[in-house]
Amino acid sequence: MTTKIILDCDPGHDDAVAMLLAAGSPEIELLGITTVGGNQTLDKVTHNTQVVATIADINAPIYRGVTRPLVRPVEVAEDIHGDTGMEIHKYELPEPTKQVEDTHAVDFIIDTIMNNEPGSVALVPTGPLTNIALAVRKEPRIAERVKEVVLMGGGYHVGNWTAVAEFNIKIDPEAAHIVFNEKWPLTMVGLDLTHQALATPEIEAKFNELGTDVADFVVALFDAFRKNYQDAQGFDNPPVHDPCAVAYLVDPTVFTTRKAPLDVELYGALTTGMTVADFRAPAPADCTTQVAVDLDFDKFWNMVIDAVKRIG
Ligand code: BDR
Ligand code: CA
Repeated sequence: MTTKIILDCDPGHDDAVAMLLAAGSPEIELLGITTVGGNQTLDKVTHNTQVVATIADINAPIYRGVTRPLVRPVEVAEDIHGDTGMEIHKYELPEPTKQVEDTHAVDFIIDTIMNNEPGSVALVPTGPLTNIALAVRKEPRIAERVKEVVLMGGGYHVGNWTAVAEFNIKIDPEAAHIVFNEKWPLTMVGLDLTHQALATPEIEAKFNELGTDVADFVVALFDAFRKNYQDAQGFDNPPVHDPCAVAYLVDPTVFTTRKAPLDVELYGALTTGMTVADFRAPAPADCTTQVAVDLDFDKFWNMVIDAVKRIG
């Protein structure tokens, strides 16, 4: 049994690892990769998507999405991902040979969910939620046809872009508000979880041992990401957020979850973009949202290492 997914991303060092995990896991059928403006401009993150697909010979089709947030101006994460959106020093990135399709990402998302069996396609957003919000507004029936939405974003205790807001949500809170308020099954893989997915030197050494070109790329990604996270956010090792969302679809036992109603703050002077989880237990019977809580660190990294090994 494989799970069909659409990866909606903004590569991004950790988005790149999410692509590799999805492409290298037999449990996943990667139907397509859609891009959205986020970590850098849409042009840059789409180019990076093509580059990663070229390095790992990923043949899932790539679709360009939306250039900017629904309401707010473009804001990029240059201090974390650099001027290119996937700044890297110890690896020479190739010119991409994988092309971008003509269809718009939003239409690809709608058509794919509408043309597959109900309940068979999962959406995995790892960037701002602009494409997903537009898709469900354009074709509301995708909300009842999708298998589930497993997104990297938000957090119930900490923020990173502000004290309480995480980047993907803070950049386009109106889009996130739409997505969090639809009645589809939604798992928020937030910072509480992804800050446990640290690329430690021990983990990096395991990729190094693989000795393949793709593994070398991952090591170089971690090195650059570590430096930026040290400089910008005082981390010793970088949290590799985005593959955590894919990992849940490879094996849902990779982290524990807790059901809770979720919403997104749009009006707070200090709290715009905060994801608000209501833990006044028990969650109501009709609650369709849950948060990721505790990561199985070894299971997660073995999964990513195995995927990179399989890619070869
Ligand atoms: C999220 O923001 C981006 O910088 C990363 O790619 C990840 O999706 C973490 O806050
Ligand atoms: Ca991302």
